[in-house]
Amino acid sequence: MTVWNDQVIIVTGGSRGIGYETARCLVGAGARVLLVARDPVATANAAATLSQNGPGEAHGLAHTLTGCPEDGEAVCRAAFQQYGRITGLVNCAGGASVGTPLGLDWRRWQEDFTVKFWGYLSLMRAVVPYLRQVGGGAIVNVAGVTGKDPNPRLAAATTINGALRGLTKILADEVAPWQIRVVNVNPGATETALLLQMAEGYARLDQISPDQALVRMRQTPRGRLTRPEDIARLIRFLLSDEAGMITGTSVDIDGGIHRGPA
Ligand SMILES: NC(=O)c1ccc[n+]([C@@H]2O[C@H](COP(=O)([O-])OP(=O)(O)OC[C@H]3O[C@@H](n4cnc5c(N)ncnc54)[C@H](OP(=O)(O)O)[C@@H]3O)[C@@H](O)[C@H]2O)c1
Repeated sequence: MTVWNDQVIIVTGGSRGIGYETARCLVGAGARVLLVARDPVATANAAATLSQNGPGEAHGLAHTLTGCPEDGEAVCRAAFQQYGRITGLVNCAGGASVGTPLGLDWRRWQEDFTVKFWGYLSLMRAVVPYLRQVGGGAIVNVAGVTGKDPNPRLAAATTINGALRGLTKILADEVAPWQIRVVNVNPGATETALLLQMAEGYARLDQISPDQALVRMRQTPRGRLTRPEDIARLIRFLLSDEAGMITGTSVDIDGGIHRGPA
């Protein structure tokens, strides 16, 4: 059984949305969490609220992921300085620009890759030596179901999530001898601030209103959007000892949107 108050977990993108709910779920179980996001006030406030509610605690680190290896190193160093050990990582900082392969602005392609592909890789590479120090641990990447079901209007997210699927598989093989697991979580459309940005993007592309775009996104087989707390509970499970045989794979959490082979 997982002893949560022994766990020290880095959650990037922890100031709001899926990352914040994940941090809340982990602190609620007793873990110590380092939240990482750009906005120093939002990050500090999120950490303070979580620590007040306990029983675990959270510390906020304002850091901008810029696509360099030094990002992961700086974040891991901060977590180690704060808590003296690291047992897990949740990569969740990122966005999803709306646009087709030809239509999406080059700068947005680069920005999305910088944060979500290079950012995730930088954290994964940096955390491995810390996980080895404590005899193993788990890495969960919040990817997205577009990595399995390509969405032409989410060109960058589709490409990044597909790349993360492949990377998760081969990294999981490489780190398995050190008792480290690597798993992707694939949300479908999820109720966060990012979803509203996506609805505005779809509305522009399709010349409909953002509300109409949201109605379309809500049409999942389950009849509702995924909620951040649905994903948070899944991530807590994947980080726990109960998930000890789950590695090198992707778990969809999308209310049944995914159409291809399971
Ligand atoms: N919502 C969905 O429908 C959905 C579906 C599939 C996958 N996902 C994926 O789930 C993850 C979380 O999405 P979300 O919906 O929770 O988004 P969100 O509510 O917009 O939260 C994004 C988080 O990432 C942080 N962040 C963004 N850029 C950053 C940077 N350069 N450096 C450090 N932190 C940064 C943000 O804080 P600051 O702005 O302060 O930096 C915030 O904490 C993303 O990878 C997204 O692609 C979301």
